[in-house]
Amino acid sequence: MTNVLKVALIGANGQLGSDIVSHFSQSDRYQLTALTRADVDITQAESVQKALTSQKFDVVINSAAYVRVDDCEQEVETAFKVNAFGALHVARACREIDALSVYISTDYVFRGDQSSGYTESDLPDPISIYGASKFAGENLVRQTTPRSLILRISSVFGKAGASGKGGNFIETIIKKAKAGDPLKVVNDMFMSPTYTYDAARLLDELLQSGTIGVIHGANTGICSWHEFATQALKLANISHPIESIPASAFPTKATRPMNSALTSDRLESITTLKMRPWQEALTAYLTEKSYR
Ligand SMILES: NC(=O)c1ccc[n+]([C@@H]2O[C@H](COP(=O)([O-])OP(=O)(O)OC[C@H]3O[C@@H](n4cnc5c(N)ncnc54)[C@H](OP(=O)(O)O)[C@@H]3O)[C@@H](O)[C@H]2O)c1
Repeated sequence: MTNVLKVALIGANGQLGSDIVSHFSQSDRYQLTALTRADVDITQAESVQKALTSQKFDVVINSAAYVRVDDCEQEVETAFKVNAFGALHVARACREIDALSVYISTDYVFRGDQSSGYTESDLPDPISIYGASKFAGENLVRQTTPRSLILRISSVFGKAGASGKGGNFIETIIKKAKAGDPLKVVNDMFMSPTYTYDAARLLDELLQSGTIGVIHGANTGICSWHEFATQALKLANISHPIESIPASAFPTKATRPMNSALTSDRLESITTLKMRPWQEALTAYLTEKSYR
């Protein structure tokens, strides 16, 4: 008989959260409690305590975050309240009920000056407030409970679109291309895109294998934002030029890593599920969204 895990998910209506809900609620291995911001505000310790300690959860997944990277530079307090102290409140509740504390993190914990992709053993050194607040969140979780899983993902695209960002990069590119708007995308900033559907399935495997510690869970391969956008239009059969520009021509409030590609040294020995190449994940996403 399968051992059913009682899982609480915070941030359930977010981009990643909604794919975790659809995947986990279809599985007989989980009994999922999906919590939105209306159910729990992670910046409030009492709210977290009330939501999480009333039941004996085996796992708590914290997918809630303040994700607007540029706004974080001004909204420093909010960034740390949600991404760091919020994570601490959740981890404390997990320790109290002896649940595994899962924290979703980001490639932006890295500086981005490395020529190859970042593995789990590379040391974070964030260069933005968002990255610093997420790294603080990781540390607070690790410091609070020995039973934690930190899943780093990057350049996320999913059916729901990031609620905090009002969509996702691919949606914006397709919308602008269809409207005939001029498009300029940076060609010297590199990353590994992550399809939320794949991240949700990976999380399932990680929970089943009892994995703890840090895991990099992006789709495989590395691309520039320009390559990512060009491939999306090609796969969606939209003919529209995308001007290739250097990051220096597109100044933003937050400094972003030039290369934040994530690779994993750990996954192969842990799960049977192989993260697919980003091009295949993008094809699946565009098919799911009926763009092809
Ligand atoms: N988006 C990316 O490109 C990206 C890249 C790397 C890592 N990540 C990480 O992946 C995770 C999921 O991101 P996402 O793209 O799914 O973002 P998202 O769509 O903005 O989802 C974040 C969720 O957090 C909720 N939330 C915000 N503040 C909260 C609070 N104080 N209490 C409770 N819930 C709160 C939001 O609720 P409302 O909808 O009510 O605001 C939303 O449902 C985050 O940890 C993020 O740091 C994202």
